[in-house]
Amino acid sequence: MPKKMDLFPVSAEAENGTIFRVAGIDLVQLVRQYGTPIYLYDALTITQNYQYLKSLLAEFYPGESEIAYAAKAYLSLKFARKLASIGASIDVVSAGELAVALDAGFIPEKIHLHGNSKSEGEIRQAVDHHIASIVVDSLEELHFLCNLCQRIQIKPDIWLRLNPDITGITHRAVQTGHSASKFGIPIADGQAVLAIREACGNPYVNLKGVHTHLGSQLFDAGLYGLAVERLMSVCREAGWMPDVISPGGGWGVPYTEDVQDNDPREWIRAIGITLVNYAERESTPLPTLVIEPGRWLAARGGVALYTVGSTRKSPDGEWIAALDGGIADNPRPALYGSTYTAEFIGDAVDRPLVPSRLVGRFCESGDELIHSIDLPKLERGDLVAIPVSGAYQLSMASNYNLAGRPCVLWLENGQVEVLQPREDICRSVWWSGG
Ligand SMILES: Cc1ncc(COP(=O)(O)O)c(C=O)c1O
Repeated sequence: MPKKMDLFPVSAEAENGTIFRVAGIDLVQLVRQYGTPIYLYDALTITQNYQYLKSLLAEFYPGESEIAYAAKAYLSLKFARKLASIGASIDVVSAGELAVALDAGFIPEKIHLHGNSKSEGEIRQAVDHHIASIVVDSLEELHFLCNLCQRIQIKPDIWLRLNPDITGITHRAVQTGHSASKFGIPIADGQAVLAIREACGNPYVNLKGVHTHLGSQLFDAGLYGLAVERLMSVCREAGWMPDVISPGGGWGVPYTEDVQDNDPREWIRAIGITLVNYAERESTPLPTLVIEPGRWLAARGGVALYTVGSTRKSPDGEWIAALDGGIADNPRPALYGSTYTAEFIGDAVDRPLVPSRLVGRFCESGDELIHSIDLPKLERGDLVAIPVSGAYQLSMASNYNLAGRPCVLWLENGQVEVLQPREDICRSVWWSGG
């Protein structure tokens, strides 16, 4: 089980039992300068996570490999630049993400376009930029793409996203590898074999690889071994072997101290061993392995900082503290029932520890960040930090109640860089109507 400190960025430092600094920067000072809510990313955590995955790939996979950051976890232009500079590739799912990746300096050979319903415009942009792979999600999309490419006479490299009928143990909203999922070409009913054969035989696309993604926040490495085994077997059945295989992302992280830690060593080991064994058994070459972590790369690097506003005692004795953010910057508790922990930032010496509920400031009762936690008794003006906030929070944020999106900072070696300024709703399109 992780300790609370292990949930914060690796550069976090505590004093008198509470977190005070990240990357050598005093959090109270930071809040004085930038206000709250504020999200910060620790450079060291993101870089170390990337390097650790690289070292695991080197240890367990003798073939070529690549780490493509799943942009949907969190993306902004400056954040994308940081990832490009450490050598990552990137997985994008929209024209917007593609444009940011290109602008941030990702070379097209390091960009993969996913999505279960790409528009013609999005496909066209990907084709025109000659990105590494367009990941075809259905037979219909394969036909559509082939027709488009025949018309424009450009031959893109593609992968096929296959559905291996594997149910990841996670919230149902983020399961994607089971047969009823809207994602991928089913293997079970023969559509995958058909798609591989059609793509191989079509002169307007270049089939390079196969892909699957089982879901997100997964803790079971064995499922990944099973998935790559199924992908390789169906390719063999279709009479073609891939140059590239991608079992997607999905490796989970602990958000609270009562959940087991989840070292990605098991994840990479399961994939590597299965592919190496398959290649030896069937005398086939090792394909390039592309993994697509989003959450595991970004989540622990991020911390959300809030100021306490109103407080009250509930009839059952619980202390309710309303923060200045909530569902608009972090919809995960409402969407998935996700749990978090929190830290009081300040001197807690004279504060009694009380059963508390951290709620947001938005107009619905589901706007709760932490349903139940023991914290020093919070009062208006106190600061609270919520760790493991780097993935699927800001990227899913909204302007509910016309809240502006929070300020986002990059902290590195005592330096602060603004990744996203606080959104001023009065200057946005909402206000001006265009
Ligand atoms: C195709 C694909 N790859 C990678 C990811 C990243 O998943 P995670 O952030 O859980 O690693 C996703 C997330 O949904 C995805 O759809």
